Amino acid sequence: MKIKKVVIIGSGTMGSGIAAHLCNANVPVTLLDLKTEISEKARDRIHNSRPPLLIDKTKIENIKVGNINDDFGVVKEADWVVEAVVERIDIKHNIYEKIFKNRKQGAIVFSNTSSIPIKILFEKLSKDEKKDFCITHFFNPVRYMGLLEIVKNENNDLDKINSLKKFCEIELGKGAIVCNDTLGFLGNRIGVYAMQVAMTEAFKMKLSVEEADAVFGRPMGIPKTGVFGLYDLIGIDLMADVLKSFIKELSKNDPFQIVAKEIPLVKKLVETGYTGRKGKGGFYRMNKENNQKILQAINLDSGEYSSSKKIDLGIETVNLNSLINRKDKYGEYAWVVISKIIKYASSLVPGITNKFNDIDEAMRLGFNWAMGPFEMLKSIGVKNFFDRVDNFKDNKFLEDLSKTKDENFYGERQLYTDIETLGKIKPKAVKVDKNKSADIYRFNDFNIVEFTTKACALDYDSMDALKNATDKPLIIINESMQFSAGVNLSYTMNFAEKGDMRSIEKFIKYFQETCKHLK
Ligand code: NAI
Repeated sequence: MKIKKVVIIGSGTMGSGIAAHLCNANVPVTLLDLKTEISEKARDRIHNSRPPLLIDKTKIENIKVGNINDDFGVVKEADWVVEAVVERIDIKHNIYEKIFKNRKQGAIVFSNTSSIPIKILFEKLSKDEKKDFCITHFFNPVRYMGLLEIVKNENNDLDKINSLKKFCEIELGKGAIVCNDTLGFLGNRIGVYAMQVAMTEAFKMKLSVEEADAVFGRPMGIPKTGVFGLYDLIGIDLMADVLKSFIKELSKNDPFQIVAKEIPLVKKLVETGYTGRKGKGGFYRMNKENNQKILQAINLDSGEYSSSKKIDLGIETVNLNSLINRKDKYGEYAWVVISKIIKYASSLVPGITNKFNDIDEAMRLGFNWAMGPFEMLKSIGVKNFFDRVDNFKDNKFLEDLSKTKDENFYGERQLYTDIETLGKIKPKAVKVDKNKSADIYRFNDFNIVEFTTKACALDYDSMDALKNATDKPLIIINESMQFSAGVNLSYTMNFAEKGDMRSIEKFIKYFQETCKHLK
């Protein structure tokens, strides 16, 4: 599919994010809003955004602006029209009427809705119009979040959907997962459930916010904002709205209902303006004491703030079994949360998707988890899981697995894409060497080096792996959140503290030699 021109209607957070990212892919975009001033402001925001939404700021000229009354004619020339206006169905329906009256024959129209089902969005369209309508659910910030959920409808032309998916994967660099028309699609349905379980169990088990975040974070392969930190980041008020729509739309016996119940402390925080980082604070807040800024955390019992305490579980790498088998409250909390997430995610197969694998990928790409629920199950071990788990009635996936106890149930990864990814290649590749900072694989006639250090920071061993792998054409790639944070500064600092300048020089020399060698 050749996408030569795109029009985006609604230039708020998502409209401007999508515009910027299309601009990164050299696709000319026009942003329309109620008034031209609004889309002009959006373009300024894109230009000044931090972290930057544009790869190359000089390309900003690729984004034109206008308003929906005077400039709607641009829709006639667009191959794609994206609707990213506020989440109100009446407004969206009016926009679609106008778009379909004006669009070029065959141009595709997308909504970026996060919660309105496609069957409601397209109810006023003719059968022919429905053919060219679907949902593309980008995540915020668009440039940085890997996941794009594409929700098709039964009238869509599959070839068109597939070429759209290809465009989004290859040109926009997204992990595009096609999913069913169910509430919250894949990412938010599981992701929001996971956050709610982590939160309600922390209240139940009387953990502090720092303790919960220390477990439901790096040790579980989840970003270090944890659950309460993430709540503050997203906005406690926004989460409350999201939960209301889940409660309203999901069936009364969906386990989501139990964890989505309103918590009095959370209600009070929203009512008093403690909506998170954008408000006066949230579960954490910065407070001034004696002219010094101090990070405070809320006591979940009393609602009082006090200085935040750092919790160190002494865990360097993700090992779910050692985490859930700890004989302390952290081990118990980890098990309860992980097992509930696994139970919930598996209960939704095949309802929300028949490829459980896609749920895992959605969690990686949309929530930056290192493992999705099914990989967590694989990592714990099928037998270990069933030895400990309580009932899983009406969960066909777990009932079947409990009979076969097949430790290799997982099969291949990243089934959603045709692109050859590291995740797909790794099981077929041969590990030829490893040291404490990197693994070297051989696949066909090339080598792959994957850094394995925290944040893929580089030290002497990383360089050694690279140098040793140059006997074949070499690919340097990994699946972490960062490609590499650069040189491991604490590694060099350790030498400096001991006054061992020789070792620093030796490392720098080896680093430079290796880079030259690679070149
Ligand atoms: P926003 O509130 O930042 O922006 C909405 C924009 O729509 C505003 O600039 C507003 O002036 C404009 N608008 C309202 N009525 C209009 C009309 N009749 N014609 C043209 N423009 C109009 O909203 P946001 O966050 O960008 O959300 C947009 C859509 O994306 C919603 O459907 C939302 O559910 C969805 N979404 C939001 C995400 C987020 O993190 N904010 C993530 C994924 C999806």
